[in-house]
Amino acid sequence: MKLDGLVVVTGGTSGIGLALVKLLTRTGTRVLTCSRHGGQLDTLARLHPGVEGRVVDLGDPSAVDLFAREAASAPGLLGLINNAAGQDDLSLADQTSPAIDREIRTNLTAPAILSARLIPHLPQGGFIANLTSGLAIAPKSSAAVYCATKAGLRNLSVGARNQMMLADRSVRIVDVVLPLVDTPMTSGRGSGKISPERVARQIVRAIRGSSDEVYIGQAALLHGIDRIAPGLARRIMRRG
Ligand SMILES: NC(=O)c1ccc[n+]([C@@H]2O[C@H](COP(=O)([O-])OP(=O)(O)OC[C@H]3O[C@@H](n4cnc5c(N)ncnc54)[C@H](OP(=O)(O)O)[C@@H]3O)[C@@H](O)[C@H]2O)c1
Repeated sequence: MKLDGLVVVTGGTSGIGLALVKLLTRTGTRVLTCSRHGGQLDTLARLHPGVEGRVVDLGDPSAVDLFAREAASAPGLLGLINNAAGQDDLSLADQTSPAIDREIRTNLTAPAILSARLIPHLPQGGFIANLTSGLAIAPKSSAAVYCATKAGLRNLSVGARNQMMLADRSVRIVDVVLPLVDTPMTSGRGSGKISPERVARQIVRAIRGSSDEVYIGQAALLHGIDRIAPGLARRIMRRG
Protein backbone atom coordinates (compact mmCIF):
# COMPACT_ATOMS: atom_id res chain seq x y z
CA MET A 1 0.00 0.00 0.00
CA LYS A 2 1.36 3.42 -0.94
CA LEU A 3 0.80 5.88 1.93
CA ASP A 4 -0.31 8.57 -0.48
CA GLY A 5 -2.55 10.85 1.59
CA LEU A 6 -2.92 11.94 5.21
CA VAL A 7 -1.99 9.86 8.26
CA VAL A 8 -2.96 10.91 11.79
CA VAL A 9 -0.10 10.15 14.22
CA THR A 10 -0.74 10.98 17.87
CA GLY A 11 2.26 12.17 19.88
CA GLY A 12 4.55 13.23 17.02
CA THR A 13 6.82 15.42 19.16
CA SER A 14 8.99 12.73 20.76
CA GLY A 15 10.46 9.24 20.48
CA ILE A 16 8.72 6.82 18.09
CA GLY A 17 6.06 9.38 17.05
CA LEU A 18 8.75 11.87 16.02
CA ALA A 19 10.61 9.17 14.07
CA LEU A 20 7.33 8.25 12.33
CA VAL A 21 6.62 11.89 11.42
CA LYS A 22 10.10 12.26 9.90
CA LEU A 23 9.90 8.98 7.98
CA LEU A 24 6.38 9.54 6.64
CA THR A 25 6.94 13.14 5.51
CA ARG A 26 10.26 12.20 3.86
CA THR A 27 8.35 9.77 1.66
CA GLY A 28 5.63 12.29 0.75
CA THR A 29 2.89 11.33 3.23
CA ARG A 30 1.06 14.21 4.91
CA VAL A 31 0.79 13.96 8.71
CA LEU A 32 -1.65 15.43 11.22
CA THR A 33 -0.26 15.07 14.71
CA CYS A 34 -0.99 16.27 18.24
CA SER A 35 0.77 16.89 21.53
CA ARG A 36 0.31 19.02 24.65
CA HIS A 37 3.10 21.39 23.60
CA GLY A 38 2.37 24.02 20.93
CA GLY A 39 6.00 25.20 20.70
CA GLN A 40 7.24 21.70 19.83
CA LEU A 41 4.47 21.29 17.27
CA ASP A 42 5.42 24.62 15.64
CA THR A 43 9.08 23.53 15.40
CA LEU A 44 8.01 20.18 13.93
CA ALA A 45 5.85 21.87 11.26
CA ARG A 46 8.68 24.31 10.41
CA LEU A 47 11.29 21.58 10.02
CA HIS A 48 9.09 19.05 8.24
CA PRO A 49 6.80 20.42 5.52
CA GLY A 50 3.75 18.21 5.28
CA VAL A 51 3.13 18.12 9.04
CA GLU A 52 0.31 19.90 10.79
CA GLY A 53 0.11 19.92 14.58
CA ARG A 54 -2.72 20.48 17.04
CA VAL A 55 -2.45 21.11 20.75
CA VAL A 56 -4.54 18.34 22.31
CA ASP A 57 -4.40 16.76 25.75
CA LEU A 58 -5.30 13.15 25.06
CA GLY A 59 -6.21 12.78 28.73
CA ASP A 60 -9.24 15.00 28.06
CA PRO A 61 -11.93 12.99 26.17
CA SER A 62 -13.82 16.07 24.92
CA ALA A 63 -10.61 17.53 23.45
CA VAL A 64 -9.90 14.15 21.82
CA ASP A 65 -13.41 14.09 20.36
CA LEU A 66 -12.90 17.56 18.80
CA PHE A 67 -9.53 16.54 17.35
CA ALA A 68 -11.02 13.29 16.03
CA ARG A 69 -13.86 15.14 14.29
CA GLU A 70 -11.40 17.51 12.61
CA ALA A 71 -9.19 14.57 11.53
CA ALA A 72 -12.20 12.64 10.22
CA SER A 73 -13.04 15.41 7.77
CA ALA A 74 -9.46 16.03 6.60
CA PRO A 75 -8.99 15.55 2.83
CA GLY A 76 -7.12 12.41 1.81
CA LEU A 77 -7.41 10.67 5.20
CA LEU A 78 -5.71 7.26 4.92
CA GLY A 79 -5.07 6.03 8.42
CA LEU A 80 -4.46 6.52 12.12
CA ILE A 81 -1.44 5.55 14.20
CA ASN A 82 -2.33 5.48 17.91
CA ASN A 83 1.19 6.20 19.13
CA ALA A 84 0.94 8.64 22.06
CA ALA A 85 0.97 7.20 25.56
CA GLY A 86 2.29 7.93 29.02
CA GLN A 87 3.80 5.63 31.60
CA ASP A 88 3.99 6.22 35.35
CA ASP A 89 6.71 3.74 36.23
CA LEU A 90 5.48 3.30 39.82
CA SER A 91 3.91 0.73 42.10
CA LEU A 92 0.12 0.80 41.92
CA ALA A 93 -0.21 1.97 45.53
CA ASP A 94 2.11 4.92 44.83
CA GLN A 95 -0.01 6.27 41.96
CA THR A 96 -2.56 8.93 42.85
CA SER A 97 -6.17 8.38 41.79
CA PRO A 98 -6.12 11.26 39.25
CA ALA A 99 -2.84 9.91 37.79
CA ILE A 100 -4.37 6.45 37.31
CA ASP A 101 -7.43 7.96 35.62
CA ARG A 102 -5.29 10.17 33.39
CA GLU A 103 -3.05 7.30 32.26
CA ILE A 104 -6.06 5.18 31.29
CA ARG A 105 -7.70 8.07 29.43
CA THR A 106 -4.51 8.91 27.51
CA ASN A 107 -3.49 5.35 26.66
CA LEU A 108 -6.85 3.65 26.09
CA THR A 109 -9.81 6.04 26.03
CA ALA A 110 -8.16 8.37 23.49
CA PRO A 111 -7.28 5.60 20.97
CA ALA A 112 -10.83 4.23 21.34
CA ILE A 113 -12.41 7.64 20.67
CA LEU A 114 -10.12 8.34 17.72
CA SER A 115 -10.85 4.91 16.24
CA ALA A 116 -14.60 5.32 16.74
CA ARG A 117 -14.74 8.71 15.05
CA LEU A 118 -12.28 7.93 12.21
CA ILE A 119 -13.34 4.41 11.15
CA PRO A 120 -16.47 5.58 9.27
CA HIS A 121 -14.31 8.03 7.29
CA LEU A 122 -11.39 5.76 6.44
CA PRO A 123 -11.29 4.61 2.82
CA GLN A 124 -11.34 0.94 1.76
CA GLY A 125 -7.72 -0.11 2.32
CA GLY A 126 -7.31 2.44 5.11
CA PHE A 127 -5.73 1.43 8.41
CA ILE A 128 -5.42 1.90 12.14
CA ALA A 129 -2.13 0.91 13.78
CA ASN A 130 -2.19 0.55 17.54
CA LEU A 131 1.23 0.62 19.20
CA THR A 132 1.32 -1.82 22.09
CA SER A 133 4.07 -3.52 24.02
CA GLY A 134 5.48 -6.81 25.20
CA LEU A 135 4.13 -5.58 28.56
CA ALA A 136 0.62 -6.20 27.18
CA ILE A 137 1.53 -9.89 26.89
CA ALA A 138 3.13 -10.14 30.32
CA PRO A 139 3.33 -7.17 32.72
CA LYS A 140 6.41 -6.00 34.62
CA SER A 141 6.39 -5.38 38.39
CA SER A 142 5.99 -1.60 38.18
CA ALA A 143 3.61 0.34 35.91
CA ALA A 144 0.66 -2.05 36.32
CA VAL A 145 -1.77 0.57 34.95
CA TYR A 146 0.35 1.16 31.83
CA CYS A 147 0.58 -2.61 31.22
CA ALA A 148 -3.21 -2.93 31.66
CA THR A 149 -3.88 -0.11 29.16
CA LYS A 150 -1.65 -1.77 26.57
CA ALA A 151 -3.42 -5.13 27.11
CA GLY A 152 -6.73 -3.25 26.70
CA LEU A 153 -5.53 -1.65 23.48
CA ARG A 154 -4.61 -5.09 22.12
CA ASN A 155 -8.15 -6.27 22.80
CA LEU A 156 -9.60 -3.09 21.29
CA SER A 157 -7.75 -3.99 18.06
CA VAL A 158 -9.30 -7.48 18.02
CA GLY A 159 -12.82 -6.17 18.72
CA ALA A 160 -12.58 -3.43 16.09
CA ARG A 161 -11.20 -5.95 13.57
CA ASN A 162 -14.15 -8.27 14.25
CA GLN A 163 -16.53 -5.37 13.60
CA MET A 164 -14.75 -4.55 10.31
CA MET A 165 -15.26 -8.17 9.21
CA LEU A 166 -18.95 -8.13 10.14
CA ALA A 167 -19.45 -4.84 8.30
CA ASP A 168 -17.50 -6.17 5.29
CA ARG A 169 -15.10 -3.21 5.44
CA SER A 170 -11.49 -3.52 4.34
CA VAL A 171 -10.07 -1.18 6.97
CA ARG A 172 -7.02 -2.90 8.52
CA ILE A 173 -6.51 -2.78 12.27
CA VAL A 174 -2.88 -3.64 13.04
CA ASP A 175 -1.51 -4.36 16.50
CA VAL A 176 2.21 -3.52 16.49
CA VAL A 177 3.84 -5.03 19.57
CA LEU A 178 7.05 -3.24 20.51
CA PRO A 179 10.07 -4.23 22.59
CA LEU A 180 12.09 -1.74 24.68
CA VAL A 181 12.86 1.31 22.52
CA ASP A 182 15.37 4.08 23.22
CA THR A 183 13.07 7.07 23.77
CA PRO A 184 12.38 9.62 26.54
CA MET A 185 9.78 7.18 27.93
CA THR A 186 12.51 4.67 28.83
CA SER A 187 15.27 7.18 29.61
CA GLY A 188 17.63 5.93 32.34
CA ARG A 189 16.30 2.37 32.43
CA GLY A 190 16.67 -0.91 30.59
CA SER A 191 19.34 -2.14 28.18
CA GLY A 192 19.46 -3.54 24.66
CA LYS A 193 17.03 -0.88 23.48
CA ILE A 194 16.44 -0.44 19.75
CA SER A 195 16.28 2.95 18.04
CA PRO A 196 12.98 4.75 17.37
CA GLU A 197 14.03 5.17 13.72
CA ARG A 198 14.31 1.39 13.26
CA VAL A 199 10.96 0.90 14.97
CA ALA A 200 9.32 3.56 12.78
CA ARG A 201 10.50 1.72 9.64
CA GLN A 202 9.06 -1.54 10.96
CA ILE A 203 5.74 0.12 11.85
CA VAL A 204 5.41 1.46 8.30
CA ARG A 205 6.31 -2.00 6.96
CA ALA A 206 3.61 -3.49 9.24
CA ILE A 207 1.03 -1.01 7.91
CA ARG A 208 1.95 -1.90 4.32
CA GLY A 209 1.89 -5.63 5.07
CA SER A 210 -1.00 -8.00 5.66
CA SER A 211 -0.56 -9.33 9.23
CA ASP A 212 -3.02 -8.29 11.94
CA GLU A 213 -0.36 -8.58 14.65
CA VAL A 214 3.29 -7.66 14.15
CA TYR A 215 5.91 -8.38 16.80
CA ILE A 216 9.07 -6.32 16.62
CA GLY A 217 12.51 -7.42 17.91
CA GLN A 218 12.44 -9.08 21.34
CA ALA A 219 8.63 -8.84 21.42
CA ALA A 220 8.60 -11.68 18.86
CA LEU A 221 10.64 -13.86 21.21
CA LEU A 222 8.34 -13.04 24.13
CA HIS A 223 5.29 -13.88 22.00
CA GLY A 224 6.83 -17.24 21.12
CA ILE A 225 7.62 -18.04 24.78
CA ASP A 226 4.12 -16.95 25.85
CA ARG A 227 2.50 -19.35 23.38
CA ILE A 228 4.46 -22.32 24.70
CA ALA A 229 4.94 -21.41 28.37
CA PRO A 230 2.89 -18.40 29.56
CA GLY A 231 4.13 -18.86 33.14
CA LEU A 232 7.73 -18.51 31.97
CA ALA A 233 6.87 -15.35 29.97
CA ARG A 234 5.34 -13.84 33.10
CA ARG A 235 8.34 -14.73 35.23
CA ILE A 236 10.73 -13.18 32.70
CA MET A 237 8.76 -9.93 32.48
CA ARG A 238 8.11 -9.69 36.22
CA ARG A 239 11.80 -8.85 36.64
CA GLY A 240 11.58 -6.08 33.98
N1 LIG B 1 9.74 3.32 24.41
C1 LIG B 1 9.48 2.02 24.58
O1 LIG B 1 10.32 1.22 25.04
C2 LIG B 1 8.13 1.47 24.19
C3 LIG B 1 7.95 0.09 24.30
C4 LIG B 1 6.72 -0.44 23.94
C5 LIG B 1 5.70 0.39 23.49
N2 LIG B 1 5.92 1.74 23.42
C6 LIG B 1 4.81 2.57 22.95
O2 LIG B 1 5.25 3.39 21.89
C7 LIG B 1 4.51 4.61 21.89
C8 LIG B 1 5.46 5.80 21.83
O3 LIG B 1 6.28 5.78 23.00
P1 LIG B 1 7.62 6.63 23.12
O4 LIG B 1 8.58 5.77 23.85
O5 LIG B 1 8.00 7.19 21.80
O6 LIG B 1 7.13 7.78 24.13
P2 LIG B 1 7.66 9.28 24.37
O7 LIG B 1 9.02 9.49 23.78
O8 LIG B 1 7.47 9.52 25.83
O9 LIG B 1 6.62 10.16 23.52
C9 LIG B 1 5.27 10.16 23.86
C10 LIG B 1 4.53 11.08 22.91
O10 LIG B 1 3.15 11.02 23.30
C11 LIG B 1 2.68 12.35 23.54
N3 LIG B 1 1.74 12.36 24.65
C12 LIG B 1 1.87 11.72 25.85
N4 LIG B 1 0.82 12.03 26.64
C13 LIG B 1 0.02 12.85 25.91
C14 LIG B 1 -1.20 13.51 26.18
N5 LIG B 1 -1.84 13.39 27.36
N6 LIG B 1 -1.74 14.28 25.22
C15 LIG B 1 -1.11 14.43 24.02
N7 LIG B 1 0.05 13.84 23.72
C16 LIG B 1 0.61 13.07 24.65
C17 LIG B 1 3.93 13.15 23.88
O11 LIG B 1 3.70 14.51 23.54
P3 LIG B 1 3.80 15.74 24.57
O12 LIG B 1 4.58 15.28 25.77
O13 LIG B 1 4.48 16.81 23.77
O14 LIG B 1 2.38 16.07 24.89
C18 LIG B 1 4.96 12.51 22.98
O15 LIG B 1 4.92 13.09 21.69
C19 LIG B 1 3.63 4.57 23.15
O16 LIG B 1 2.36 4.09 22.81
C20 LIG B 1 4.33 3.54 24.02
O17 LIG B 1 3.44 2.92 24.92
C21 LIG B 1 7.10 2.30 23.75
